[in-house]
Amino acid sequence: MKYNFESIIDRKNTNSLKWDLFGDEYPMWVADMDFYAAPLIYESVNRKANHGVYAYSFVNEDVYDSYINWWKKYGLDMKKEELLFATGVMPSITSIIRAFTEIGDNVLIQTPVYHVFFYVILDNGRNVVENQLIYNPDSDDVETAYVIDFDDLEKIFKDPKTKLMLLCNPHNPVGKIWKKDDLERIAVLAKKYDVIVVSDEIHCDLTDPDMTYIPFASLDDDLSKNSITCISPSKTFNIAGLQSSAVFTQNKGFYEVLKGQLATDFFSHPNIFSIDATIASYKSEDWLNELREVLFNNKMIVKEFLEENIPEIRLVPANATYLLWLDCSKLNKNEDIESSNYEFSKTLSEFLREEVGLFLSPGVQFGQNGDNFLRMNIACPKDLLIEGLNALKEGIDKFKS
Ligand SMILES: Cc1ncc(COP(=O)(O)O)c(C=O)c1O
Repeated sequence: MKYNFESIIDRKNTNSLKWDLFGDEYPMWVADMDFYAAPLIYESVNRKANHGVYAYSFVNEDVYDSYINWWKKYGLDMKKEELLFATGVMPSITSIIRAFTEIGDNVLIQTPVYHVFFYVILDNGRNVVENQLIYNPDSDDVETAYVIDFDDLEKIFKDPKTKLMLLCNPHNPVGKIWKKDDLERIAVLAKKYDVIVVSDEIHCDLTDPDMTYIPFASLDDDLSKNSITCISPSKTFNIAGLQSSAVFTQNKGFYEVLKGQLATDFFSHPNIFSIDATIASYKSEDWLNELREVLFNNKMIVKEFLEENIPEIRLVPANATYLLWLDCSKLNKNEDIESSNYEFSKTLSEFLREEVGLFLSPGVQFGQNGDNFLRMNIACPKDLLIEGLNALKEGIDKFKS
């Protein structure tokens, strides 16, 4: 390996959300990685830091060229005038919701899904409408483990109050790359019922080594023009703290409205490090390719470990993201408790934290239909991963007894 994915980095007392927020626990929750940034990013940030002046910056042309060149490999021919800088994917989605829906409108999400989708809709006074993904617990194939309920999707789209769909492509937390056929079916229905598709593609580069994702905007022009795509180097290159992202749309009308809204919301001004770091990120493809190998190996380690040591927990087949979706339903002995307050995944997650100091995200956070699951972040050196897995085994043994 050319790059260092082995060193265990002490992130404690660095004001890290992942490591410092909850005290002395081993955190495998929030989606950031315990690896050093790619050398070019590190150099770009240091160059800026050493300059010693930290005043206003602007978004230069090179940033747009970086996105344009990177997305060519995904078959997308972006134009500068179709891209807007934003300080994050969630800020972008906030602006999109404010610009394209009214208070009281419905926004569709496919649960279980990234929990912040719930907050961004509800906090802006819109309604969450869930198109629950269908889970096939016996499937060993990523294509059938989770599938879209298209009948339900159409029913929700038919409601005139439904104005927007937030698509997660690839999907967090189930780790699935949506197929072209899925994207096309969504796009055709959305167009038919005049629902705008917002495709959050923040995890798009983090696929299994032999896999590639399909951008929603690579569909036929008339379908793509009914969409807005959110992209960022932040997950791929672990630079979420630098707050850099972009919004892409081939719809000129959407573009103009969004440009105004991002400016109104003050989400269009870059910080001093973000522009150079974005450009450096998209020059770091060889680092990314090694990372994808490391993440895939980690996933295989977890799979084998669970099969041998904790057969009650099943790894849901996935082909993207470093967030593993663990089906713990066999450990849930309270399925028939008729209490609306009982949340198994919270109980299990809290138990693991208290008993063995391991912090995994409770699945219910991603929607009620995620309640039999835990989400595990495996973007860490192998030694740390094994430590986490041993803690999980110890914790589950205690939980069973
Ligand atoms: C699907 C998805 N969208 C957005 C974000 C956050 O994006 P940002 O930090 O750019 O707001 C995350 C972070 O985990 C995510 O998983």
